[in-house]
This record gives sequence, C-alpha cells and structure tokens, in this order.
Amino acid sequence: MALHRAKETPADDPYADVFASPMSAHVLPKHRMPDEHAPPEVVYALLLDGNAAQNLATFCTTWSEDQVHRLMNECVDKNMIDKDEYPQTAEIEARCVSVLADLWHAPSSGGGSSDGDDEGSGGGGVGPRGAVGCSTTGSSEAAMLGGLALKWRWRARRQARGEPVDRPNIVAGPVQVCWEKFPRYFDVELRQVPLEPGATGLRAEQVAAYVDENTSGVVAILGVTFTCAYEPVAEIAAALDRIEAERGWDVPIHVDPASGGFVAPFLHPDLVWDFRLDRVASINASGHKYGLAPLGVGWALWRDADALPAELVFQVDYLGGNVPTFALNFSRPGGEVIAQYYAFLRLGRAGYRRVQQACADSARYLAGQVRQMCPFTLLYDGEGALPAVSYTLTDPRGAGFNLYDLSDQLRMRGWQVPAYPLPADRHETVIHRVLVRHGVGRDEIALLADYLRWALRRLTRGAPTDAERNRLPPLSGATWDGPGRAVVGRVRGPW
Ligand SMILES: Cc1ncc(COP(=O)(O)O)c(C=O)c1O
Repeated sequence: MALHRAKETPADDPYADVFASPMSAHVLPKHRMPDEHAPPEVVYALLLDGNAAQNLATFCTTWSEDQVHRLMNECVDKNMIDKDEYPQTAEIEARCVSVLADLWHAPSSGGGSSDGDDEGSGGGGVGPRGAVGCSTTGSSEAAMLGGLALKWRWRARRQARGEPVDRPNIVAGPVQVCWEKFPRYFDVELRQVPLEPGATGLRAEQVAAYVDENTSGVVAILGVTFTCAYEPVAEIAAALDRIEAERGWDVPIHVDPASGGFVAPFLHPDLVWDFRLDRVASINASGHKYGLAPLGVGWALWRDADALPAELVFQVDYLGGNVPTFALNFSRPGGEVIAQYYAFLRLGRAGYRRVQQACADSARYLAGQVRQMCPFTLLYDGEGALPAVSYTLTDPRGAGFNLYDLSDQLRMRGWQVPAYPLPADRHETVIHRVLVRHGVGRDEIALLADYLRWALRRLTRGAPTDAERNRLPPLSGATWDGPGRAVVGRVRGPW
C-alpha cells in the first residue's frame, strides 16, 4: 500500500501535497538516519508536535509575539559565545544583566547612575550597580554557577584559616531537581530540610538545625516548584544573622527565584527578598519562564565582583578577542538573549506588571472556581506568590478516584495539569498544580474549570448519558489550522 502510494507520487514531484508525499506514507525512522534526503517542507510539516497553550504544567513561555519569532529566526546563526564577533549581542547581554541588577536592587558600585537607564555598560558583565552576571541556558545552569561560586568562596575562607575543606554542604528546602544535581555533580552534600506539615517551603526556624561551619550557602526559593510559594528570604537571612552572631559562621544565601524573579518585582514590590538583603550573594532566574523570553535563557547574577571568585571566570582569547566567560557550556544561540531584551524594551515595567497581574487575576479566578468544587482543598489560591493554583483531594481515600485519574481525564480534552506528590516527608499528599502564564487567557481558564467539573462528574458518576451529553458545555481542544499550528477552539467533540 505504502509503495503503491509512493509510486503514485514520485519523490521529485515538486507539487506533491505534504501529506501525499512519499515520506508521509511511511513511519518516520526512529533509530537510523534515512539513506536519502527529503524535501524540507515535508519534514517540517511531519515533525511538529503538541499544543503548548493547554499545557498548564510548565512554567515556561509558550506564547511569543511575532517579532520574537522573527528575532529568534534572524539570530539563529549568532553564537552567544562569539562576543567579539557579535559585539552588539554581547552588549545586549550586559544590558540585560544591568536591567536585572536594577530590578533586584543590587547595590550601587558607587560609580555610575544606579538608574541604569541610558548608558551602555561596555559589553562586560558588570552594570552600573556593580553586580556581575551572565546569561545561561536556564535556571539550572545558573543554579550550578551560583552553587559553584558558593563552594569556591567557602573553600577560600576555610583555607585562609587553615581549616579542612573536604566536606562542603548546601542547605535547602524542597528543591527543583537542579539543586539535587548541583551537589551530586560538584561533590557537595545536600542538606535537604523536610517540608513541615502545613508548610509550603523552607521555614526560617528550620535552618539552624542544618547549618554548620561547612555550609557553603543556603538556597531560598521564590516560587517553590511544588507549591509555587515564596520562601521567606528575609526571615532566613535574619536566622543566619543570628547564627553568625552566636557561632561565627557567615553563611551566604543564593536565591532561586526561577519564576518569582520576574513576578515579585512587579506584583509584590514591597517584599524584600533580593540584593537588598546583604546576605544574598547571588540570584538565578529563568528568562524563559515569567521573564517572558522564549525557551533557552536564564540569568545568574552576583551582588558584586567579590561574590564571584575570579578563578571561576575563564578568559577565552581564541575567538578574536579576550572575553571572560563563566558557563558550563560554550556555544549557544544568541536569539534568546536578544528576545529577553526585546521583552524588556517592549513591555517595560508597566507592561510586565500588567501581564503578571492578568495571570494572577486569572489564577485567583480559577481558585474561586476550584473552591466551589467539593472534593478539593485549595493549597494555594494564586494570592501572594506565583500566578498559579494548587489543590489536593480533601478526602483522598473516600473520593473514589485520585488526582492522577483526574489528570488523565483532563488530558483527554487536551489539558495538561500535572498530579504529583509533595517532596519526601509529605509524599503521601498528591496535588494538582496549574500555572497561569502569559498566553493563557481568562476564557481558557474558565474552560478548564468547566472541564474540571466535567471530569469530576465522569469520575464520580461514570460517562454521561446522551441526553446529559448535549447539556454539557462545549469541549475545548486543539483544532489544527495547518501542520503543527495548534489553535485552541471550542470544539464540540465526542466525549
Ligand atoms: C525553583 C526552580 N529552580 C530551577 C528550575 C530549573 O529551571 P530551568 O528549567 O530554567 O533550568 C525550576 C524549573 O521549574 C524551578 O522551578
């Protein structure tokens, strides 16, 4: 059959419809490169996947303006590391570092304007505020760099006093996997503080029991991956101040606001969590999450040059200039950084505030809907931290279904809402988490609430009768307006 179709549509027929082309008549090779080349538009059409708009599991950007797509496209050949060859890209990276240093209240270097508004920063990683920093592929790489700087500084302090340096540790609450990777990859002990009942993250009063003279730093998270809550950075800093006064251990904080770094400055400007706290040595964030840049960019910043040990920064001179680099990888596309700067210029502070506020308002709307659905207990209602909602089953044993079942039901209609257990000591509690991001509108959230009700009904009372089916709300789903281009529509579909 497939061969017959292939003969009907010769491989060199330039007018063949994509889905009538010889390649589309075969299952694509999975384990071996094909022997022959294929027309690019056919390969393109056959590869694209999924509907990111209904993916409420991810923190990451799933919608970008057309101009961002164009910028990404036009930067596809620019290597971020070739700073000498693409000085404007390097300059833009440095400007982004300055913008973030300003947003996160890095101390002024005492030199230039701390408003950081109109002067170029000279292409380096140092802005007028004196903070140093760089772009990365995401928060994970930025977290590794932050963790390494902590380890190096701890070691230097200990070596200077002639103390042993073989057992560094890092203290953190419930962490994203990058903070489990860092200690394992770089030979640091992870002292993970358990999540207390009723808590949504690390509590300041827990810290003292885990910190000692070998603690290179404490990680505080603004937007805990599991619960979306902000950990109390200022209170943790105060606890560490007390520890220093009593025991003499000067333990710095690395803040991981992978998402919150772009939410708190706009929605919670009075919350003190950043370089305003002397103890905060470094911060990482994901530009590609609530930073509104497309996938592939994160940021690592240190409050000043002293917080980033010089031995970690390599001077690379074979690309035509002498360029400092602190990164785990080398080559990387320049588009994401350009797109980050585009977002800063395009939206400004007011634009970011409006986008994040719209997301937070929709999250609270969803929380209101969930509150009315009897099987659930709301854990986080979208107020005070990330634009998100999380909930659990009030009576997991008596409900007759679990949240994994509910996720499966929602998935039948395209919605991706993850169910997962809380970390270690709270493992028995399974939650649903919905992230409301740029590009997820109120109407979609209202549809999601409809489908939550629909799914609950199915799980508790079985499939609807034909008569009931006609009374149920129209279904959302992806309709396809072309290969790989998903649009969310109200589609009445089979149940
Ligand atoms: C708190 C936190 N830190 C770090 C990361 C890793 O971020 P990235 O995906 O940008 O590497 C995540 C990802 O969700 C996160 O939630």
